[in-house]
Amino acid sequence: MFAINGMSAVDQSHAPVVDAVRAYRDRGHLSFLPPGHKQGRGADPRVLAALGRAVFDSDIIMMNGLDDRTMSRGVLAKAEKLMAEAVGADHAFFSTCGSSLSVKSAMLAVAGPGEKLLVSRNAHKSVVAGLIISGVAPVWVHPRWDAEQHFAYPPEPDAVDEACRRESGAEGMLLITPTDYGTCADIAGTAEICHSHDIPLIVDEAWGAHLPFHRDLPAWAMDAGADLCVTSVHKMGCGLEQGSVYHLQGDRVSPTVLTARADLLDTTSPNALIYAGIDGWRRHMVEHGHELLGQAMRLAADTRAALSKIPGLRVLGADLVGPGRAIDHDPLKIVIDLHELGVAGYQVNEWLRSHQRVDLGLSDHRRVAAQITIADDSWTCERLVSAMADMVTHIDEIPSAWPIHLPEPGELELEQAALPRDAFFGPAEQVSADEAVGRVCAETISPYPPGVPALLPGERITKTVVEYLRSGLAAGMYIPDAADKSLATIRVSTMTTK
Ligand SMILES: Cc1ncc(COP(=O)(O)O)c(C=O)c1O
Repeated sequence: MFAINGMSAVDQSHAPVVDAVRAYRDRGHLSFLPPGHKQGRGADPRVLAALGRAVFDSDIIMMNGLDDRTMSRGVLAKAEKLMAEAVGADHAFFSTCGSSLSVKSAMLAVAGPGEKLLVSRNAHKSVVAGLIISGVAPVWVHPRWDAEQHFAYPPEPDAVDEACRRESGAEGMLLITPTDYGTCADIAGTAEICHSHDIPLIVDEAWGAHLPFHRDLPAWAMDAGADLCVTSVHKMGCGLEQGSVYHLQGDRVSPTVLTARADLLDTTSPNALIYAGIDGWRRHMVEHGHELLGQAMRLAADTRAALSKIPGLRVLGADLVGPGRAIDHDPLKIVIDLHELGVAGYQVNEWLRSHQRVDLGLSDHRRVAAQITIADDSWTCERLVSAMADMVTHIDEIPSAWPIHLPEPGELELEQAALPRDAFFGPAEQVSADEAVGRVCAETISPYPPGVPALLPGERITKTVVEYLRSGLAAGMYIPDAADKSLATIRVSTMTTK
């Protein structure tokens, strides 16, 4: 649900943080507090030349800067209220530390040390970090696995219901949707199940900041009945990197508890540029979101059609949706299967970057994905199409896909032998990958993107997962978080487990 301009209780044409930045600069304040660059006067001229003076001019502290000593003008509070109203949530909270931090705040708001939280196992590594820091015990709800496409779909409500019945006493459920591939879970069905078990539903909607602003996009968490959701405004929205908002509705999660627990993690020096990016994006979306997102969807459809005509490319979309698959797919995510060309997404990604200066985010052993946002136009989309066509013409320059030992369905469902926190902080040693089989993992190992850990602390390592990761590495997979990035060795726990 989005505020229709002119019908909102608060004036959505205001952008309190953006306005405060402008007013601060116009009033000509002299600052004797951070940031020490003092509107760029202390910055290296070479940095000013590279970044532009405006970045420093607008990098202003909140307290005793954009707002007064007691924050009595409520600059941030007003911006958050406008956001909540714009998207139909009861509360919105801005964060300058990405969804990586917001999702931890959301988890902590629902469960504490030793308490259980149902978590969809396609969770991002930031969720696993949240489990490690908090000592929350995960009850994994496993995604559905398409063996033919080698694709994981978000778990269905039935799987959540089964997990609730199997493991009593969970404090809530954390669902991840949309995924980096744009596949969407059934939020409404999952919310219904969670509420029937009297637990709140948190949605990690890092990829869904745009969803509230066009009704032809997949359902967004608050509309679908979730209690708490986390969005990255820098991903599918147009805020600055790290801009994130978490939204709350209903009374299953207390806003007081949420803010107190988020305060444990938050910076005391939030970047006003990031806040302003979120604030400005909200106003832009309320005023023009429907039109701009509609345009982006039409552009994405045309791009999809043009890419589909290129021999060897299979553009995924409708085929990702249906019984046993996703409930919906974000049409702004163009996922391209390269299987027929016999090349991996990793090398195609690199070829496009070096030969065409076209950069993509997601690439895996057989796919690449391009995201379209309101920033795109027919020129950018035509560049994408022609770059992909050129890549196909030069397919001989791209090495054939290296065979990966892909696990069968269920083979990535590992035993959680210890709490992630215990295995991570407990005694550990680095052993050869062969010796690690059967041992309890003490680190997080996440192919990136999408950053979903294949192994996480406390899981018992299997031969299949080691073979998958090591063959993936040989094929071009990037694993930034393993202690030994070659995976010749793996960090395992030496504590006694059950
Ligand atoms: C599902 C999911 N959740 C959370 C995050 C973290 O978001 P951010 O990069 O805003 O910290 C990501 C990042 O890719 C993600 O894919």
